[in-house]
Amino acid sequence: MLEKIKKIKEEILSGLSSTQKDAESFRLRYLSKKGIISELFDSFKALPSEQKKQYGKKLNELKQLATQKLEEIRASGESTGKEKDKPDLTRPGIQLPLGTRHPVSIIRREIIDIFTRLGFVISEGPEIEDDWHVFSALNFPQDHPARDMQDTFFIRRNPDILLRTHTSSVQVRVMEKQQPPIRTISPGRVFRNEAISARAHCIFHQVEGLYIDEGVSFADMRQVLLYFAREMFGQETQIRLRPSFFPFTEPSAEMDISCSICGGSGCNVCKYSGWVEIMGCGMVDPNVLDNCNIDSEKYTGYAFGMGIERIAMLKYQVNDLRLYFENDKRFLDQFISAW
Ligand code: PHE
Repeated sequence: MLEKIKKIKEEILSGLSSTQKDAESFRLRYLSKKGIISELFDSFKALPSEQKKQYGKKLNELKQLATQKLEEIRASGESTGKEKDKPDLTRPGIQLPLGTRHPVSIIRREIIDIFTRLGFVISEGPEIEDDWHVFSALNFPQDHPARDMQDTFFIRRNPDILLRTHTSSVQVRVMEKQQPPIRTISPGRVFRNEAISARAHCIFHQVEGLYIDEGVSFADMRQVLLYFAREMFGQETQIRLRPSFFPFTEPSAEMDISCSICGGSGCNVCKYSGWVEIMGCGMVDPNVLDNCNIDSEKYTGYAFGMGIERIAMLKYQVNDLRLYFENDKRFLDQFISAW
């Protein structure tokens, strides 16, 4: 029997038995109820008691050895044998694609940031508007051709309910609710019934501004707009105001900036003029103030309005408006910004 114990011990220690690769077959061979060691225990029971002491110790040692070995096989099985079933924690992680802001959002935020630094507050209003807030309060006479300047989407053939064509409507709402001083900007989406092309779209975004107080002058407006242009397009930017017409401002102007692409020397963006138009502006017509119950004898103000896509086109030199609406990820992924 001692011989047998010795042999099994050697077998286990040698690690050569094929059963030693797999914990379960090792357990079956040595430690299960029908295993070799259990059999030895059975024969041990039959020994005369004076021999038991001698064998008992050896047998227990053998069992301990086998149990220990089984633990070892199990432990190594976990780290090597079953590798393919386990996640490999050393693999690099999956990179989630980072989102980017839409260029229109980036520019909107930049514009808002510049004007809020000057004390303007943001106001918003409905996209579905009535005739009063979009046209009549703004001094568009009923059958005046000025209404044709803004091809309007009407809702359900009701000429009174329409999609706003500019966010000047929001400024009417502000003036109706609040007395001067008023210093507000209205960012928002606007709608015009235009054929979609590289240069026109039926939806676009605007930021319009309004400043009303006692003694506000055209020169105040010019200075604020110059500040805006330089913050937006660089400190070397020049501005130019050209006479224009809007029903709600008098006098009215279009503002050009020196071309940010060629710096004024002429390129295809500015059509070799050195200037590009970026917004409409002017002194609020006294009729508009009266329509909104603001005393036009006491107060004056200026207003301005610009298209966000237009500013974005100049800043990013993307000259097809449609790209801003198609949401092609390859286009959008190019705009990374602190905003
Ligand atoms: N509302 C005008 C537009 O949509 C822009 C504008 C605003 C012009 C304020 C003058 C003053 O074109």
